[in-house]
Amino acid sequence: MSQPTIQPTIQLIRGFKDILPGETELWQTIEKTAITLFEDFGYREIRIPIMEKTQLFARSIGEDTDIVEKEMYTFPDRKGDLLTLRPEATASICRSYIQHKMYAQNPVQKFYTIGPMFRRERPQKGRYRQFYQIDAEIFGIEEPYADVELIFLLHTLFNRLNVTDTTAHINSLGCPNCRPRFKEALSSLLDDASEALCKQCLRRKDRNPLRVLDCKVPGCKEAMAGAPALIDFLCDDCRDHFSTVTDLLSMLDVPFTIDKQLVRGLDYYTRTAFEIQTGALGAQSAVAGGGRYDGLVRSLGGPQTPAIGFAIGFDRLAEIVSTCNPAVLKTPDLFIAALGKQAKELAFKWTAELGSNGICTTLEYRRKSLKAQMKQANRAGAGHVLILGESELDSGVAVLRDMAAKTQKEIPLDLVVEKIKQTFSKTCEQ
Ligand code: HAM
Repeated sequence: MSQPTIQPTIQLIRGFKDILPGETELWQTIEKTAITLFEDFGYREIRIPIMEKTQLFARSIGEDTDIVEKEMYTFPDRKGDLLTLRPEATASICRSYIQHKMYAQNPVQKFYTIGPMFRRERPQKGRYRQFYQIDAEIFGIEEPYADVELIFLLHTLFNRLNVTDTTAHINSLGCPNCRPRFKEALSSLLDDASEALCKQCLRRKDRNPLRVLDCKVPGCKEAMAGAPALIDFLCDDCRDHFSTVTDLLSMLDVPFTIDKQLVRGLDYYTRTAFEIQTGALGAQSAVAGGGRYDGLVRSLGGPQTPAIGFAIGFDRLAEIVSTCNPAVLKTPDLFIAALGKQAKELAFKWTAELGSNGICTTLEYRRKSLKAQMKQANRAGAGHVLILGESELDSGVAVLRDMAAKTQKEIPLDLVVEKIKQTFSKTCEQ
């Protein structure tokens, strides 16, 4: 019987998306691969809220960044407090580290978190308004080993997922010691280029000149083409730090490119900044990004604590992985084709028992002919079908059919669960 078509009247919010069965299997594989790797390297999961006080993001990411200026979902709650849907995880993890005085127990903490973030950007391929990040952070370590550990983790994760068409771009953004000399050099260029700058950059020019380097407006990009690079202004300590990072990356055979133009879109970075870029996603070339933020914990009211982290764009990674890996579809281990009320009730009991024993079993609850049920089992890709009709009930044996081998055997009704468990434990051992 054909179903009348029902027009959905309420649709998704622009820039938001559903991740459907068929895709979620891949998301789960990526998530499991990442979690295994994080746990092998001593990272522990932290779960932070989806909403925070707006001030937290404004102060950490920076008032002059695109994210804070124009992309945050911010609204007053019923009492008028300004709240924001998190655009990233780092600020919240810092807040949590400080609020729970985790540093008192041990300043060195390694965290990971996976979840949705929200930025009101112009939607396009690889860019959404709700997107997911896989995030890792290391607190309390100033030494460049931490920087390299994180880039190594990204490299390893991408390799395990068969993603090889990526390059790690790295740069150093210096520290408060080296910034003033750089800003001076940049300011004279900005003064000369004033006429070419967009309205926002004219404001940023004096308040936060570094941000102009990250502006996506074509006029600003052109004006900044010959701009000096921070890496050429590093103090001795920052230069040593960066050269140790590159030496250690080479020692671990992690390929990288030094990218003097890499500035990142958030204000909190110091020293090492990096991005994993790919040609697979059109304009959205960064599949992961991160860097050091040695001053952030202190600026949010905690003790001076060096820190570094990264976030992978989960949606972007899933898109790349789906193009280089065959689809993973979960199929039932067993389909039970039961006919008649009595058979169905018995099969229902078996299904519950087998499911609780880790054997994925599908039972057709609706009234369908044997032929229709066999067709259905085939379509679902079930490895085995157990047939239980009136004649099987009468004879006291059910028929188990191996769909690939096209063989079948009889099983006494009171031994069905036990025998099927044995069959599947043998299949698993092979
Ligand atoms: P981010 O570069 O803003 O860094 O974001 C990290 C990654 O999230 C990007 O490289 C991209 O793959 C993905 N992403 C960002 N915006 C979108 C979007 N609208 N749609 C889809 N994917 C997106 C951070 O968020 C920092 N918190 C990273 C970090 C952690 N730094 C230190 N620790």
